[in-house]
Amino acid sequence: MPIPPLGELLAGGIRGRRVLVRADLNVPLRDGAITDDTRIRASLPTLSQLLEAGARVIVTSHLGRPKGQRRPELSLRPVAERLAILLDTGVSFCEECVGERAAAAVRELPEGQLIVLENLRFHPGEERNDADFARALADLADAYVNDAFGSAHRAHASTAGVAELVGRVAAGELLRSELDHLDGIRKPERPLLVILGGAKVSDKLASLQALARHADTLAIGGAMAYTFLAGEGRAVGASRLEPDRIEDARRVSRAALDAGRRLLLPRDHRVVERIQTGAPVKVVQEIPDGWIAVDLGPETARDYADEAGRARTLFWNGPMGIFEVADYAAGTETVAHAVAGSRANTIVGGGDSLAAVNHLGLGHRIDHLSTGGGASLEYIQGRTLPGVAALQR
Ligand code: 3PG
Repeated sequence: MPIPPLGELLAGGIRGRRVLVRADLNVPLRDGAITDDTRIRASLPTLSQLLEAGARVIVTSHLGRPKGQRRPELSLRPVAERLAILLDTGVSFCEECVGERAAAAVRELPEGQLIVLENLRFHPGEERNDADFARALADLADAYVNDAFGSAHRAHASTAGVAELVGRVAAGELLRSELDHLDGIRKPERPLLVILGGAKVSDKLASLQALARHADTLAIGGAMAYTFLAGEGRAVGASRLEPDRIEDARRVSRAALDAGRRLLLPRDHRVVERIQTGAPVKVVQEIPDGWIAVDLGPETARDYADEAGRARTLFWNGPMGIFEVADYAAGTETVAHAVAGSRANTIVGGGDSLAAVNHLGLGHRIDHLSTGGGASLEYIQGRTLPGVAALQR
């Protein structure tokens, strides 16, 4: 079923109307300061168009995981301040997202102006998709726009419940563009290479299972590779692994084999005796007892880079090692350069991989940088995202 585009909502006339926008402004913070405003910038096309059309724009988002508690360090106030700078206009902020205070703040909002409401997840009703909380949000608005691609895999009140209750709905520009780009992974030009990294098999199990069958080649890095290698009976030393996921990892490998796909694991490793800056690092093919793998070895990194050179479609999510430590970043950096240099249609998703790409100044050489980590993984494996389904009514 088609998703109503923003243009349709604008064409229907929106001047003076209250438009509730669910954005994903879940940005990283350090000591109260925003360390990466990519997601705020990504929300600007939708917000600017609504403002230009004279809407009264009510922006909502979550920030972090406060689990229904008011946590001042997770306030959206700094995000509202950054939005004001980026939009070059006054932005109001309300310390509530529902109830009389929020309603009063919205009543006072002039047309063509924007207000940011406080973190939705300060209320337990948000993550529970509670009907009363969804109704309280809906009461603030004449129209609803979901532009929160990064949260579209969550069936929460602000991404799912509220869409049922507001008369006019639309997908924002970011949500639309993310789906368009990721459709290229769902129906790829082959060969499709998926490079998945990160610490835990358990975090990405469903994606691993689905992508092992869908991708022509699934290349695995990061600590989760050691759960796979342990499943093959390989020595993993003291590397981080999940013993209770070894059987799952074996099942993923079997699924790839049965489907005639390739699953690649590291064949050499950078290892340390302790994870500490300056501690000696060596490259090995067999991990000695007591040593910890912290990065791909150079041969594996080259293998994965060669695969990137052969792919026509390439999706990368998750670092190849503990890349935040400069001594353990080589594998992730080799992969980042190979993805950037690939002739394939390239998509990178997930906070850590994006951080690596941006840190190396390679962002402009990637075809699409997805603002959604979990959401992009769920979408490319063929799942229906609740935040999208709620708009297709
Ligand atoms: C993300 O950062 O992936 C999204 O904002 C979703 O956050 P969540 O995993 O806390 O729901």
